[in-house]
Amino acid sequence: MTQGLTTNGWFFLVFGWGFILTLTIYCFSRVLFGKKPEVVVEAGGREQWGSRIGLILAVAGNAIGLGNFLRFPAKAAANGGGAFMIPYFVAFILLGIPMMWVEWTIGRMGGVKGHGTTPGMFHLMWKKAPSKYLGALGIVIPFVIVIYYNFIESWCLGYSWFSVTGKYFGHANRDAMGKFLHGFQGVESNEFFSSLAPVLIFWAITISLNFYFLYKGISKGIEILAKYGMPLLFIFGIILVVRVLTLGTPDPSQPEMNVANGMGFIWNPDFSRLGSASVWLIAAGQIFFTLSLGQGIINTYASYVREKQDITLNGLTTSSTNEFAEVILGGTIAIPVAVAFFGVAETKIIAEGGAFNLGFQALPVIFQKIPLGQIFGGMWFFLLFIAGITSSVAMTQPAIAFLEDEFKWKREKAVIVVFSVLVTLTAFVIAFFKFGFLDELDFWAGTFGLVVFATMEVILFSWVFKMKKGWEEMHKGADLKVPRIFKFIITYVTPVYLLIMLGVWTYQDAVKEFLMTGKDPAHRPYLWGARVMIVALVLVMLLLIRKAWNKKKGHEAEAREA
Ligand code: ALA
Repeated sequence: MTQGLTTNGWFFLVFGWGFILTLTIYCFSRVLFGKKPEVVVEAGGREQWGSRIGLILAVAGNAIGLGNFLRFPAKAAANGGGAFMIPYFVAFILLGIPMMWVEWTIGRMGGVKGHGTTPGMFHLMWKKAPSKYLGALGIVIPFVIVIYYNFIESWCLGYSWFSVTGKYFGHANRDAMGKFLHGFQGVESNEFFSSLAPVLIFWAITISLNFYFLYKGISKGIEILAKYGMPLLFIFGIILVVRVLTLGTPDPSQPEMNVANGMGFIWNPDFSRLGSASVWLIAAGQIFFTLSLGQGIINTYASYVREKQDITLNGLTTSSTNEFAEVILGGTIAIPVAVAFFGVAETKIIAEGGAFNLGFQALPVIFQKIPLGQIFGGMWFFLLFIAGITSSVAMTQPAIAFLEDEFKWKREKAVIVVFSVLVTLTAFVIAFFKFGFLDELDFWAGTFGLVVFATMEVILFSWVFKMKKGWEEMHKGADLKVPRIFKFIITYVTPVYLLIMLGVWTYQDAVKEFLMTGKDPAHRPYLWGARVMIVALVLVMLLLIRKAWNKKKGHEAEAREA
């Protein structure tokens, strides 16, 4: 039985929070008060970020997503609590921060040469034909993720509305909330929902908002969204953290159900878990997911940075802002409040049942039990919605940027075409949701794909392009001199770490997943359908890349003849 925070628990809490806060304060003080770099505005006609703070907020918005508030607390609680933070921080330093700098560097370098996506960026690093085709994954992976991510985002918007209007109030138990969720998702027809119409309405609003911000472009759309959305997210997050920390023991007849035990559940270390390889892999996977690495989306955002604009300090600042949202805000809301109302044993079951059970079933029960629960519920789900939308626009942008940069399409035309495909494919996710279609896409793109792509990327950067050149490129206009040890880390440690992860995951999960071990046979045709969708998208992308490069070759030949 967890008994508040133990001495070790306090140590980890103070260490974890202290590390993140120190890093965040250090970065922001240098960004705000440091020497301003010379900004060179170059030609090329590509869009650019309007301001440094807008850029930092946009990339932070890209990284801060549902993973910070739902996935992280569930993973931490289920994998050793405070002890989980050891492999988590190791992965942050050896994988997260280095890959962040690598992706910013590749991105800015590509943008300067007119390439906003990884086919062109990889081609710059390795002039051989296969490089641009490898880069296809940096467009397909985020696109596959956003196909289902925008659907989940619409649940957050819907639940925000249902909280404020009290639609699910009067049913304060998890079973009822499970039915409510399934009814809303269209998994079953029940007393709460008898058709898909409500979820389709919220989905239509979500898609329209995504469309709007992307149609407006980088500085007038995405940057504006981040400039308003991010402060609001932090304000809501801090209010919710204060509310949770002041809950005490909500039911005096159940003294062990309290917030201190909730914090203990997250932070008291269970060192016995450190011996398990899977805990190290889960921690590393979380770092990847939360920092939006291995998806090509940091690269695309970095491609709108000016040639001599800093990327080292900006990269570190966005990483630490994401960690602030994850470790300090995300770690202090969902799990501690669940322990205060359900107790440690049930919270463990909820956390192991997955992030959605925690966010969409357990928390709505709690909002019905606290004063002003409608408002706090509305805030929680709106916070998730903001976290979601600032990430989903980032995942859609590479496909748009590819059409703009490589085919010279106008942004408006590219946005309309990309959204037509997106809406069509999400319709499959909605229709086949109950057969595990979404989870299948999530595994191949959102879990496995990221690591495959990041491994290729770091090897290309440090071994093919060569670390010496990469390091010089990274430091052009840099406000922060990266400690030299990272040269070694990026060259050797990060690739080896990733190769090990990839090997173990292929062995442990991918083979099992590929064979659909333990899956309901009735679901298999749909799961195959999801795979066909991914393969078809990869093939289309490869053809488009070929077409774009052939066209370029044609233009070059014409120019030579002229
Ligand atoms: N990085 C985004 C998240 O945490 C995808 O949800």
